[in-house]
Amino acid sequence: MYTKEQLESIKRVEATREERLKAVLAGNHPRRMTAEEKEQVLLENHPDHIKSQFAELKIGPNKGEKVPIELAETLQANPRINPADIDLTKIDYDVDVLVIGGGGAGSAAAIMANENGANVMIVTKLRHGDANTMMAEGGIQAADKPNDSPAQHYLDVMGGGHFKNVPELVYKLVNDAPICIKWLNDLGVMFDKEADGTMVTTHGGGTSRKRMHACKDYSGAEIMRVLRDEVQNRQIPVVDFTSAIEIIKDENGKAAGAVLMNMETKEILIARAKTVIIATGGAGRMHYQGFPTSNHYGATADGLVLAYRAGAPLLYAYTLQYHPTGAAYPSQIFGALVTEKVRSIGAQLINCDGEAFMYPLETRDVCASTVIRECRKGKGIDTFNGGQGVWLDSPMIDMIHGEGTIEKRIPAMMRMYLKYGIDMRKQPILIYPTLHYQNGGIKISDNGMSEVENLFVAGEAVGGIHGENRLMGNSLLDIIVFGRNAGINAAAVAKNTTVSDKLNLDHVESFKKEMADAGIKTDKVSPKLLPRYTHGNPVFDEPKAKFMK
Ligand code: FUM
Repeated sequence: MYTKEQLESIKRVEATREERLKAVLAGNHPRRMTAEEKEQVLLENHPDHIKSQFAELKIGPNKGEKVPIELAETLQANPRINPADIDLTKIDYDVDVLVIGGGGAGSAAAIMANENGANVMIVTKLRHGDANTMMAEGGIQAADKPNDSPAQHYLDVMGGGHFKNVPELVYKLVNDAPICIKWLNDLGVMFDKEADGTMVTTHGGGTSRKRMHACKDYSGAEIMRVLRDEVQNRQIPVVDFTSAIEIIKDENGKAAGAVLMNMETKEILIARAKTVIIATGGAGRMHYQGFPTSNHYGATADGLVLAYRAGAPLLYAYTLQYHPTGAAYPSQIFGALVTEKVRSIGAQLINCDGEAFMYPLETRDVCASTVIRECRKGKGIDTFNGGQGVWLDSPMIDMIHGEGTIEKRIPAMMRMYLKYGIDMRKQPILIYPTLHYQNGGIKISDNGMSEVENLFVAGEAVGGIHGENRLMGNSLLDIIVFGRNAGINAAAVAKNTTVSDKLNLDHVESFKKEMADAGIKTDKVSPKLLPRYTHGNPVFDEPKAKFMK
């Protein structure tokens, strides 16, 4: 239910709707920004450019680089264990490939490792499938239509990422995309299809072709359902409610397992493995700069901590994605994802004057920055607790495509708002950027291995695929492409590698020494594992990032 003031504001949206609709139906969309305009709006408004919110790393492989303050604190925090207390001769699990993380990337990796003959095990700190994959809504990109090509997809990804992307990784992403859609379809993912079986595809921000394949607006949940079934069908063991808290190495410095902690009993367990895959996902629950998040509860940058302490460099850890359309109202869903698909199928972004202030499918970083600028200019609409947002004119969708389109194509969105007395078919919704994705992460080569031998990485924990800004639908794609890739390569390496009998945590001792030598004194402990939402911790207690100064 909207407030009286918000209802007044909606009248201004309605007053301009007919004109706007006429223009769109005639093919006239709000003007796209020039390259210079984009650069300016990013520099002046994107959270990645607020210098005071970054700190320099004092130790580790990326020493001297700046990362978000909260990440610097976590990377340079105390380990959860004292290595001297850990008995590495008592092995609880002994496998070829250990996968850390039970989301889409981890599951795809485990399936392919199993397919390639490895004895593989998944360990996950929540339940299998409790992950950002499950929360993904809008779709998965792949250039598999006659008017499209991986080369076209490549250009879009590079442009969207400001050409900072690692070319070899983008090459793999776009070329493997059609195979991955077929793989998912064959496994049983129920993609949206026309009556003749062709896949329904739409645009996302920054795409030059319609290549977003979707399962309504619960694409991630559907993909996760199928991957989880496949893991079960193959009888791949899953140890849930158990976190990896350190990587273990062998005498030759190769990754050789992980120290695990049971989340309920806090019991420490040792997993020995010939190769290890980090697939721990993102970091939205770090709430960088006080932003709300669209992320799953467990998204706390754990993989980055494990890898960093083991000596693996990160790439572009300074760059985060703020999804332009997080729910800004009502408070119960503050920060929840409002899929980009709402804009893909016709909703415009409207300010308090009823003006469509931008082309709605600019790339995400540009779009989020422009929304922030609009609010800073005084063109936002009050939400709650002094916050602001702009309107997303959702009723346009049914007006453009016909009644029933919202219900058919974005039913999860519709239901989310109906729960709070807002019918998005009839009334616009209020949005503001929400912390959505970690563009940076652990550096890998195109076989999926980090710079620590036998330590592989897949999914959101990887840095460099998306440069400084990911396009919609390329995350569900990258978890499948690089999850499968890591599984295949980790299984192959496991066949030929030997793990020496003497396991060690020497790198953890060295890291502690580096901290002491650098004068870092902290009571913080990492990996963080789960966020704390308690009184006395206002960043996590209350939605703060309403209107960034
Ligand atoms: O807007 C969305 O549905 C999000 C998609 C993505 O992050 O790829």
